[in-house]
Amino acid sequence: MNLFDVYPVNEITIVKAKGSYVWNDKGEQYLDLYGGHAVISIGHTHPHWVKRIEEQLEKIAFYSNSIRIPLQQQLAEKLGKVSGKTDYQLFLCNSGAEANENAFKLASFVNGRKKIVAFSKSFHGRTSLAVAATDNKNIVAPVNETDNIIFLPFNDEDALEDCFKKNGKEISSVIIEGIQGVGGINVAEVSFLKKIRSLCDEYGTVYIADSVQCGYGRSGKFFSHDFAGVDADIYTMAKGMGNGFPVAGIIVSPKIKAKHFQLGTTFGGNHLACAAALAVLEIIEEEKLMGNAVMIGKYLRDELESIPQLKNVRGRGLMIGFDVPEALKDLKKNLLWKQKIFTGEAKPNVIRLLPSLGLKKRDAEQFIDSIKEEIQNLVETPNLLN
Ligand SMILES: Cc1ncc(COP(=O)(O)O)c(C=O)c1O
Repeated sequence: MNLFDVYPVNEITIVKAKGSYVWNDKGEQYLDLYGGHAVISIGHTHPHWVKRIEEQLEKIAFYSNSIRIPLQQQLAEKLGKVSGKTDYQLFLCNSGAEANENAFKLASFVNGRKKIVAFSKSFHGRTSLAVAATDNKNIVAPVNETDNIIFLPFNDEDALEDCFKKNGKEISSVIIEGIQGVGGINVAEVSFLKKIRSLCDEYGTVYIADSVQCGYGRSGKFFSHDFAGVDADIYTMAKGMGNGFPVAGIIVSPKIKAKHFQLGTTFGGNHLACAAALAVLEIIEEEKLMGNAVMIGKYLRDELESIPQLKNVRGRGLMIGFDVPEALKDLKKNLLWKQKIFTGEAKPNVIRLLPSLGLKKRDAEQFIDSIKEEIQNLVETPNLLN
């Protein structure tokens, strides 16, 4: 049997990883500033995370949600403490798309409505409603198409207000990334998030904060939406939550009461997933990783801003993006193949940095030296690799 060929891949086989580094099968070392799509939050194979999972594996890996799983309650308490949302309620699932599906569904159960507001350049996942609310027609299959999604321009308060004036009583939820990831690292403005909150309050709409990529401390606050100083009704999370162990969830405002059987999952919240997720929160707290994200993020943004060829350096904490001019379109490729540094991209010509929140200053410095060198090479010999 062959693999179903849905991904273009880099011809690199990673066999070992530690902290912000990975090694290929030839023993060559790479600096990882991408974390496999923003997943590596506390660093690859962190010893505490490995130990927690190994110890749990020896006891019990899985049982379904038909029994008590005290680790889930421990995780809810820890998450409440680290995020500051102590009175929210946790529902566990397995992926970011699934978290968003559950958020849409819960919102619709709560207010009995069908319409969802989403924004230009959004990415919310690949399952039915999540993909319908994603602003990329190429990944929406005919079966996913629905009239229930209203797309509005990102950060446009007037358009949002107009939409609510016209359709407010039909809008079940508004979903927004605090910092758009796949869309190219676009920060939601504080005033825009406040406007969403006030319109949702006025019209009985549920505010869903998609924190799948921008959450879990990456921005320097636990949820990047928190920069606006207003609470969402539901936060969805995944990627950084398990540091590579598949675990996701939603946290739900105390305003919303749970009803039996409305939401459910077989694998979600299993013992092993909870152990991994607890280890992540313990390390975020113990190693003060949110503070590190602020500090190293600022260093990287300041340095990148001082490179004249790079435009529009943006983001918060360790979620950083910048535009690369057409003449330097090979920069990401050269960083990977010549400097052995993984970065991410977004079309057209945006480089995204989504490293471990524990990224060290010396690694950030190495990246800055390397990117300067590669820019210089491309300026001097633009067609070398073409
Ligand atoms: C903001 C956001 N939401 C949802 C998702 C979907 O997450 P998953 O791939 O775990 O389903 C992603 C994935 O990139 C994302 O960036």
